[in-house]
Amino acid sequence: MGSEEATLVLIKPDAIARGLAGAVLSRLEQLPLALIGAKVTRVSQRLAEVHYQAMREEPFFNELIQHLRGELHGVAYVLALVYAGPGAVAAVRQAAGATNPEAASPTSLRGALGRMTTTGLMENVLHASSDDREAQREITLWFRPDELLVPLYASKTVEGQTRVWA
Ligand code: CDP
Ligand code: MG
Repeated sequence: MGSEEATLVLIKPDAIARGLAGAVLSRLEQLPLALIGAKVTRVSQRLAEVHYQAMREEPFFNELIQHLRGELHGVAYVLALVYAGPGAVAAVRQAAGATNPEAASPTSLRGALGRMTTTGLMENVLHASSDDREAQREITLWFRPDELLVPLYASKTVEGQTRVWA
């Protein structure tokens, strides 16, 4: 298990399409947390489905996967970020606000920058891990050990030199 608390943020394709990535980063930068991983990455069908595996029975699952993959916004990538520090999960969830942008506090990222489209799509700007367990599952899904500045979790060397999560 990790010794330091960390959380995964994904700046979703709706935010990329609307030029809001910088606004999200600016806000998160104000939190007393350390940015220990960041990358721009395409989202494969498999990665999206494993990321949102808890939602697979939901009626909106396919649309959610298309959304995360950028297919609904003509965007080919997301920005994936890892923030670490005491209370990281709760602090980022608080900054993100409630899932539905219309229910989110107007000063939260989702409340200020998100929207429900007229077609019913929840454009809620970012993903933020919901708890420590999910954070570890998600961080190890999106990042390799050598992509993080801090060795959050146990890893091992395979084939002589590649580090993978243990
Ligand atoms: O993202 P968060 O953890 O706040 O919410 P969730 O309940 O884990 O749902 C994951 C994602 O599914 C949300 O961020 C939305 O993009 C989407 N969702 C949706 O489209 N419609 C809902 N009624 C609930 C969630
Ligand atoms: Mg969630």
